Amino acid sequence: MQVVDLIRTKRDGGRLGDDEIRWFIDSYTHAHIADEQASAMLMAILFRGLDAAELATWTSAMINSGERMDLSSVGRPTVDKHSTGGVGDKASLVLCPLVAACGAAVPQLSGRGLGHTGGTLDKLEAIPGWQALLTPVQMLRQLHDIGVVICAAGPGLAPADRKLYALRDVTGTVESIPLIASSIMSKKIAEGTESLVLDVTFGTGAFMKQLDQARELAETMVRIGTANGVRTTAVLSRMDTPLGRSAGNAIEVTESVETLSGGGPADLIDITLTLAREMLALAHIDMDPAPLLNDGRALSVWDAMIRAQSGDPAALLPVATQREVVRAERTGYITRLDAFGVGVAAWRLGAGRSRKEDPVSPIAGVVCLAKPGARIELGEPILELHVDDPGRLPAALQALQGAISIADEPVEALPLIADILRA
Ligand code: URA
Repeated sequence: MQVVDLIRTKRDGGRLGDDEIRWFIDSYTHAHIADEQASAMLMAILFRGLDAAELATWTSAMINSGERMDLSSVGRPTVDKHSTGGVGDKASLVLCPLVAACGAAVPQLSGRGLGHTGGTLDKLEAIPGWQALLTPVQMLRQLHDIGVVICAAGPGLAPADRKLYALRDVTGTVESIPLIASSIMSKKIAEGTESLVLDVTFGTGAFMKQLDQARELAETMVRIGTANGVRTTAVLSRMDTPLGRSAGNAIEVTESVETLSGGGPADLIDITLTLAREMLALAHIDMDPAPLLNDGRALSVWDAMIRAQSGDPAALLPVATQREVVRAERTGYITRLDAFGVGVAAWRLGAGRSRKEDPVSPIAGVVCLAKPGARIELGEPILELHVDDPGRLPAALQALQGAISIADEPVEALPLIADILRA
């Protein structure tokens, strides 16, 4: 087979055959196709798409590029959650121990954050001693004993995606629904979970800016999951303003522990309980998760999970010594606090990375002292920027230009959850 023929077929709007797709994925994974040819194919797919049959073959070729984990020894129903990303999105930190406390096993193999949305592993690494790298044996033991593991995906899991995602990142080919859907689902299916709840975000702080795009992505992923024997549900959630009160690493851990201890902001509790109920339904566990946030049961699973990965759940987290406050420029009601602006500010303060290899700061981030709907007086603080290198402040403040709107009258808040798609 000649890769250039396959590229021409897709470029001209044709279909790729099953053998052609399998050959392309296998050859690229094993470095028999050059990056420039794979880039051309990805760009052709971005413009021409993949039909349902092509996408099914593409996804299974990505799954089969590596190992598929066997979680049968875990002894509990397995259910995972994946979010397409958001600013201040720490839901996994609360949700995974909560669902484990209800009797399921949550095998969350995670990646690191890139760009303006934070990564779950980066947040947990703010806890002194906590280790993201586990062997498959350690992972299975922890799932069996505690019911939850959040750790880095090993190199053997969907290696085709590892290469293709890195290439898409630098060739402007991330924003393709079939490529995003196959990338996410190949990793989740290879992970071996029996069921999966997807939080598909839309809005200024999300990948998908519009609800209809998010719905198409969600439907595509639910179809792929179901076709591969993974019971899959998608929740469509709004991401126009940061989730909760913080966007950063240590500050998001602190907010998550507060929520696991019966406190926490209403929007974080709302999304966590919505996702938890869908996960428990897929795991056939008939239980209301809400009381476990208040009675210490979810918190004790969190403590066990952190300890099992060498972290100290009682350790004091690092805090910023340098803080800059953004104040209200007028009196009125906050009608908008833009998630993208806050996400970029947190990223520029050092909470996120631009390249995979970059380190992140545990203390950097943005605390939202007031959110949309709040009444505010001229000069009152709205945001607090945390940083360890004050040289980063001007670029972060620039990202916040125009990110806050204040009006005489409040505007009605739209619901956080726009829809739930069940197979
Ligand atoms: N996250 C992924 O894992 N893959 C994508 O393509 C986009 C987001």
